[in-house]
Amino acid sequence: MPQLVLSQDTSLVDHRGNNSFGIREETKAETASKVQAARERVNANIAAQAYGFITTLDNPTIIQEVRTVLRSIEWADTLVVIGIGGSDLGARALQQALTNDSASFRVLFHGDSTDPVATTRLLSEINLSQTVFNIISKSGETVETIAQYIFLKEHLQSHLEAPDEWRTHFIFTTDAHKGILRQEAETHTITTLAIPDTVGGRFSVQTSVGLLPAAALGVDLEAFLSGGREFVTNQNGKNLSLTLATAHYQLFCQGTKIAVCMPYSVQLEETARWFRQLWAESLGKDGTGILPIQARGPADQHSQVQFYAQGSPIQSFLFIRIENRPDEIVLPQTDVRGVEYLSGHSLHEIINIEQRSTALALAKAGRPSITLSLSHIDAYALGQLFLFFQLAVVYLAEMLEINAFDQPGVEEGKDIMYALLNRDGYAEKRRELEEIHDLTM
Ligand code: PA5
Repeated sequence: MPQLVLSQDTSLVDHRGNNSFGIREETKAETASKVQAARERVNANIAAQAYGFITTLDNPTIIQEVRTVLRSIEWADTLVVIGIGGSDLGARALQQALTNDSASFRVLFHGDSTDPVATTRLLSEINLSQTVFNIISKSGETVETIAQYIFLKEHLQSHLEAPDEWRTHFIFTTDAHKGILRQEAETHTITTLAIPDTVGGRFSVQTSVGLLPAAALGVDLEAFLSGGREFVTNQNGKNLSLTLATAHYQLFCQGTKIAVCMPYSVQLEETARWFRQLWAESLGKDGTGILPIQARGPADQHSQVQFYAQGSPIQSFLFIRIENRPDEIVLPQTDVRGVEYLSGHSLHEIINIEQRSTALALAKAGRPSITLSLSHIDAYALGQLFLFFQLAVVYLAEMLEINAFDQPGVEEGKDIMYALLNRDGYAEKRRELEEIHDLTM
């Protein structure tokens, strides 16, 4: 059986000793049948290949397609990734976690804002003739993404000499058949990569959405996908996700509605942002759900932890720690008086001691936590970590009886924006809004 690089310590999550907000035995008994039903349903769905984010790991051609596209733009030195939400955060996480010397491109991310300052800054950082823009949108019409595209299209047309050259500066990652980007690609013969129908934005990091930026960053794609595949075929992997989901469900039933994800690693801050979106958009709906908060240790020990330890007891914690790091920095013998006790300790050892101390201090204050240990960080480990979280979300959604795969709250905001921008087909929506709001601002 393939090795798991993840393990989970749940010894501080139960109601025990001072841990007054931990999971109580009666909660476990009351939730047992719900947990069991969720486990059976999700496992049956996995066996029936019902989850696109899992079946996509077996796509035999995707890596080849991505590499072919990347070879076709070898003339460029910079890839600018333009997408938002699920079309953005996974690749950012990969860049931060895995950046290495084999990157063939400088990869910049520019999709998550329509602030003109960001666009001006981007233009000052790139050499247009050496830059390719990877426009990523499953729907092919998200305003933030499309606004950047239409601006850049015109900008390239007016700055490049050959009339048709602008087309070669774009790669679209979008739906295989529909949407404005697909239509635009067909009209102008722009290179595209397809996003599988069955995979939604926040579950798409292991499709072409994440894989093209990852390939440009020099990430080992085979290892990244096989990490995910091996996690899900390993019963212990599935059990890890189920354990995380169960604990959060039981805490939720006791009234804990907030989950803080706090990696003790500078490489995983973006991964925690990716997790925050996955968790929030998948689980927060129908008037229920658990609010995810992203933190980073040790920085946020000196920021949020005061609240967590002594403020309203409204949250639980998921710590992530790394067991092995390639960089070994050991503090020398020091003559600085009062801190001699630090001599001989490595920074790796100190950061992990800080994580353990925070978990113990919070337990003493009655706040429950789980600690996820990652043996090391590489593409294979990240592949497992992403699957761990996606599966946990699916189990938890079953327990909460909500659909993990839609986002009606986000769609409503998009519709209102279309109405405010006077998009065709949204006049009725605009009228509805005008009846109750002043739309002049
Ligand atoms: O997870 C999701 O579905 C969303 O976060 C989308 O990824 C986000 O809204 C961007 O959508 P699109 O890829 O259609 O531009």
